[in-house]
Amino acid sequence: MNSNLESLPLNQILLEDSLNLLKNLPDESIDLVVSSPPYNLGKEYETKQALEIYLQQQTIILRECSRVLKNTGSIFWQVGAFSDKGMLIPLDIRFFPILESCGLIPRNRIIWARKHGLHAQKKFSCRHETILWFTKSDTYKFNLDAIRVPQKYQNKKHFRGDRKGQLSCNPDGKNPGDIWLFRNVKHNHEEQTIHPCQFPEDLIARIILSTTDQSDIVLDPYMGSGTVAVVAKDYERYFIGSDIEPKYHQVALRRLSGEPDENGYFPNLKTLRDYVEKTGESIDKFRFDLQIGNKASERSQAKIYPEEYHLQSMEDRLLYEEAAFAANLRQEKIPTDPQLNGKGKKTKSPDQKSEQIELRLWG
Ligand SMILES: C[S@@+](CC[C@H](N)C(=O)[O-])C[C@H]1O[C@@H](n2cnc3c(N)ncnc32)[C@H](O)[C@@H]1O
Repeated sequence: MNSNLESLPLNQILLEDSLNLLKNLPDESIDLVVSSPPYNLGKEYETKQALEIYLQQQTIILRECSRVLKNTGSIFWQVGAFSDKGMLIPLDIRFFPILESCGLIPRNRIIWARKHGLHAQKKFSCRHETILWFTKSDTYKFNLDAIRVPQKYQNKKHFRGDRKGQLSCNPDGKNPGDIWLFRNVKHNHEEQTIHPCQFPEDLIARIILSTTDQSDIVLDPYMGSGTVAVVAKDYERYFIGSDIEPKYHQVALRRLSGEPDENGYFPNLKTLRDYVEKTGESIDKFRFDLQIGNKASERSQAKIYPEEYHLQSMEDRLLYEEAAFAANLRQEKIPTDPQLNGKGKKTKSPDQKSEQIELRLWG
């Protein structure tokens, strides 16, 4: 480890203000900054303030993030929307020029789509957040092979020319694109802790694997429940972070330790399951912070679907909703939703289903 590395708080999450942490980091010492800042929504961990003041404070933080970033480094800044008295401002629109003003270069605006959320009454329901990816220079890292996903048509072949009969797609998979559908860490998600807005670990894995190498340094100035640290550790990267709230800081440290506390509790179901798989101890001996039932379920009994599954079901649902809307406009018979009431459940006859849908559409 060189002297530059020794001066850094490697593999530590500090219980302090993010600006303090950043001010103490040397120039060009970090490979990746990935974070979701407080959104100024009045969540339990933030005080709502005027948007312009919030953005000025974030500008100071982002200037520091840019200063500490190596020349080959990347910043991923995940934001939602600011809303006040029914007005809605997508925050990425306001953050984009701030990141540009820090001398950073835009690479992607990633849409993180959601299948569920609050149903708005006076505007379209919000079903996405954004992740802005900026780099410090043109010599940034992007390891596409580390994050490929399966091709939709895996056996597609060239049908003419020199390569006739050969596969026309990359058999190792395709670029995942800029619309992501990792399930929100809410009810029944095995990663859920007491924190209200966690990153899903797989979303962070995609970012870390594509833009860093082993032993690189990943910084999250708003560490929350510690997701970025947990994933960086899993993939043998160093992490550095801070959070100002003691109860989230504790959760992050407990996730990282992977051990039960003195009462046999874990911060979430995933950490519990990992522990019993590693030690062979009985899952019945332990509990996790948000547990409702008497005992935790085994991982083998749980349905944990990959991102592709959620993307496909969202695509199916959106196509169905469009078809149903078009049929309604034209006063045609409304098509039957194959997923009505959830897959596998007995539903009524197609005609009865159409009635139900019609009621729901116009009701
Ligand atoms: C959106 S949450 C981050 C959640 C995190 N991505 C996770 O996966 O758990 C924002 C976090 O910023 C923390 N925070 C708010 N103001 C802060 C500040 N000035 N310095 C450090 N942390 C702060 C809050 O306590 C909260 O945990």
